[in-house]
Amino acid sequence: MGLSQWSSSPPSSSFFIHAFILLWWCGLLVTSVVGGNNETDRLALLEFKAKITHDPLQLLSSWNDSIHFCQWRGVTCGRRHQRVIVLDLLQFSELVGSISPHVGSIPPSFGNLSSLEVFAADSNNLGGSIPHSFGQLTKLTTFYVQLNRLSGRIPPSIFNLSLLQMFFVGGNQIQGHLPLDIGITLPNIKSLSIVANQFTGPIPISISNASNLKDLELANNKLRGRVPSLEKLYRVSVFTIFYNELGNGGANDLSFLCSLTNATYLRLVLIQVNNFGGELPECIVNFSTTLTELVLSNNKISGNIPIGIGNLTNLVVLAMENNKLSGHIPFEIEKLQKLQYLALSANNFFGNIPSSLGNLTILTDLYLDHNNLQGSIPLSLVKCENMIYLDLSENNLNGTISYQVIGLSFSAISLYLSANKFTGVLPAEVENLKNLENLDISGNMLFGKIPTSLGSCVKLEYLAMGSNFFQGVIPSSLESLRGLQLLDLSKNNFSGNIPKFLESFIFLKLLNLSYNNFEGEVPTNGVFKNISATVIKGNSKLCGGMPKFDLPVCKYNKPKKRKLTLSLKLIISILCGLFGITLVISFLLLFSFKRKRRESILNNSQNLLLNVSYQSLLKATDAFSSTNLIGVGSFGSVYRGILGHDRCIVAVKVLNLLHHGASKSFIAECEALRNIRHRNLVKVLTVCSGVDYQGHDFKALVYEFMTNGSLDEWLHPISRTNEVLEEQKNLNLLQRLNIAIDVANALEYLHYHCHAPIVHCDLKPSNVLLDDEMIGHVGDFGLARFLLEATECHANQSSSIGLRGTIGYAPPEYGLGNEVSTCGDVYSYGILLLEMFTGKRPTDNIFKDNLNLHDFVKGALPERVINVVDPIILWEREGMETRTNDTHIQNRIGSPKILECLILIFGIGVSCSMESPRERMNMIDAVAQLHLIREKLLRTRIRGERVI
Ligand SMILES: *[C@@H]1O[C@H](CO)[C@@H](O)[C@H](O)[C@H]1NC(C)=O
Ligand SMILES: *[C@@H]1O[C@H](CO)[C@@H](O)[C@H](O)[C@H]1NC(C)=O
Ligand SMILES: *[C@@H]1O[C@H](CO)[C@@H](O)[C@H](O)[C@H]1NC(C)=O
Ligand SMILES: *[C@@H]1O[C@H](CO)[C@@H](O)[C@H](O)[C@H]1NC(C)=O
Ligand SMILES: *[C@@H]1O[C@H](CO)[C@@H](O)[C@H](O)[C@H]1NC(C)=O
Repeated sequence: MGLSQWSSSPPSSSFFIHAFILLWWCGLLVTSVVGGNNETDRLALLEFKAKITHDPLQLLSSWNDSIHFCQWRGVTCGRRHQRVIVLDLLQFSELVGSISPHVGSIPPSFGNLSSLEVFAADSNNLGGSIPHSFGQLTKLTTFYVQLNRLSGRIPPSIFNLSLLQMFFVGGNQIQGHLPLDIGITLPNIKSLSIVANQFTGPIPISISNASNLKDLELANNKLRGRVPSLEKLYRVSVFTIFYNELGNGGANDLSFLCSLTNATYLRLVLIQVNNFGGELPECIVNFSTTLTELVLSNNKISGNIPIGIGNLTNLVVLAMENNKLSGHIPFEIEKLQKLQYLALSANNFFGNIPSSLGNLTILTDLYLDHNNLQGSIPLSLVKCENMIYLDLSENNLNGTISYQVIGLSFSAISLYLSANKFTGVLPAEVENLKNLENLDISGNMLFGKIPTSLGSCVKLEYLAMGSNFFQGVIPSSLESLRGLQLLDLSKNNFSGNIPKFLESFIFLKLLNLSYNNFEGEVPTNGVFKNISATVIKGNSKLCGGMPKFDLPVCKYNKPKKRKLTLSLKLIISILCGLFGITLVISFLLLFSFKRKRRESILNNSQNLLLNVSYQSLLKATDAFSSTNLIGVGSFGSVYRGILGHDRCIVAVKVLNLLHHGASKSFIAECEALRNIRHRNLVKVLTVCSGVDYQGHDFKALVYEFMTNGSLDEWLHPISRTNEVLEEQKNLNLLQRLNIAIDVANALEYLHYHCHAPIVHCDLKPSNVLLDDEMIGHVGDFGLARFLLEATECHANQSSSIGLRGTIGYAPPEYGLGNEVSTCGDVYSYGILLLEMFTGKRPTDNIFKDNLNLHDFVKGALPERVINVVDPIILWEREGMETRTNDTHIQNRIGSPKILECLILIFGIGVSCSMESPRERMNMIDAVAQLHLIREKLLRTRIRGERVI
């Protein structure tokens, strides 16, 4: 399905090997084919090479006789036998070749490899069916053929391979039933994934006997019937059956949910888009608290949300839209403190919106539309500072759209409040919604004028205010809304002329001004040319326009016009005078305000930066013992320590004052940290500036301790190729994106929201630290610089400090002209972003000569994104239970949406790391775009696109 959208090349002839991973486990594959010595491995590799016709990066040039084949690029040998154990071609981009005729299917002869334990040929172009001979692979534990074009049925004998632990056939076109005794014949199965195929029939009752199952993924098939009890699957963590035809719409359809209450590791329960009916059983409140996603959407489920839902304290996603649920939204929902996504749309919920929703401070999506909710919007919602989508449309809500709620949050992208009974005006505070793209307040009883401040919402694409009692003219400030695609002001009492600037809104696809009191000439260019895109009927005083509108010709009364011009002139000159005075006053006010603000910031942070003694740090770090040493930075060493009565765990950076510049760095860092505070910056708790017991100067900074270490450790875990199947330190796609957003937020703050822009100057993965919730914090301000003027890229701030960032991350211009600018940070950020998603450091060996990380990625976009993405992201599967609860998106590789997201992310990385500072994106745009991508990713999972 989705597959064909990204692997478009024809199956036969030559094709890109975009993700060709063949894992030859202990050389068995080769061994058995040709007879079994290390020479055959070499020949087999050469044979593979011979068929590659195009290798633009000369990646296979090392595959020659001058070095041992175990040193060939992409080849890993076992230590004892010098046999190939891993051949990882994913790291090789741009290989093109024709492979012998039997690829387009899996060679049945592989079935003779009687010792084969692992067969992994996922993400290829394999067609045909799975050979029957595979039933002979009695040692097989792992079978990965997902994301190919396999069809037909799975040979029944494969289900008798009793050692099988991992079985992944998702993303093919396989048909047939699951065997009735599958749970008995596969007693060791841990992961069973058949997602995105065409399996039919029921889920066998015996599945519950496979008590080692951790991952049971049956989504996106044509399975039917009743879901059996799963009570013995007490290890199951991921259970997905969405997009099937399961359930009978009847009363006991959901009893299987109760059988999952003993599953202590349960993380995901995704059952959306099926035929489930009956009441939502109360037992869901007894699910393990490890649950992070519960998605029941698009079924026929009735009943109430049980009050005990508050027990599921780690829920990140709760989605139940499009069902027949009713009752109140329980107040206790506030206990779901990790909730980010709450969708209850299109049910029969009634009563008030509980004010406790305001306690869900990290909520990004709230969908309560199409219910019977009443009362007003609780003011507490202003506490949801991370809200991106708020949809309350089609309810019976009343009261005003208060300025608190409308000024909700900087991050809001969509606000849908249509078809309610709201009254009052649209508050001017709407201007706070700087990222707003969609605003729909139509179908209410709102009145007053369009606030001129609406012109500040320059990202608006969709503005619907129809069917209200608005009046007045369209303010000229709306001229700045050039991104508008839809503007609906119909059925109000608007008057005045239709502004000519609308002609220049090139994205405008629909302009509805009907049923108002507009007058004067209808413009004729832009959207007005297209009479099906412009609706102006019901305005009796309009004239002109395209002939097809059939309006009267406009008549001008010239003398009157002259008079008008005269009086206009008068007004303008008076206004100018007033403006001058106002300007002076505003300057005075602004100045005093700024000074006050700055003073208060300083006062606050001085409290923060209390001095701590040398002695207490000595004690805290066990006399700076080497067991507490956690890192050595540019200007000193960092120790873990336990400080004070409350035994707070901290990180202590002791400056090496013998190092030239360390003292300066200490001052830079203190100065920077004194003035800034942000959730994505490492917080400095205290500083120490004094003398040690030998009478030497001693300077140290004490930070919050970040339990999960640095991003660098996560991106580059040691020796990962050899442990490819073991559980290890890995970040999944969403975690990476979240951290990327954290870092971007921090930079945006430093560049735009401090009293003077601050340039970090040394952004790199080892300076991004992760707390216990895997939230990223930018640290190490030892090189930070204030810019005295907010000139962004043209800053002329030369400084005497020798070191300016780190090779690979420092922008090219720092090497030339000694100019520090926010754009330099943007470059480093771009490189960091590319590193995060390619898994390659900018200093990687493959980046020599003319190839660098930026070009490497840029060259692969968009078609060959799969060639550059970190293979670990693609391996994400079983064993990916990372330490946090924020893993609610399991990666669905191959889903076109995921690839689209990756392309967008890389696009940002590329545009931040442009060689010319002026061509780089700024952090405000980067943050906004990353948020959108994140949203897309979340929706990929929830909103039911066909995912794999
Ligand atoms: C093959 O293995 C044998 C014994 O394990 C070893 O002596 C020989 O050097 C190896 N040959 C190659 C080409 O690696
Ligand atoms: C063979 O591989 C080595 C190691 O990568 C390389 O230096 C050499 O140029 C290669 N020889 C040929 C003929 O490509
Ligand atoms: C859960 O485990 C308990 C104790 O073993 C058992 O009594 C109960 O029936 C189990 N519940 C389910 C739903 O399997
Ligand atoms: C919700 O917020 C209110 C007021 O801010 C507070 O009193 C209450 O403790 C919060 N509840 C939770 C569960 O955090
Ligand atoms: C809003 O609706 C509720 C119930 O529907 C009603 O009690 C209340 O008076 C209404 N408030 C306003 C301001 O109309």
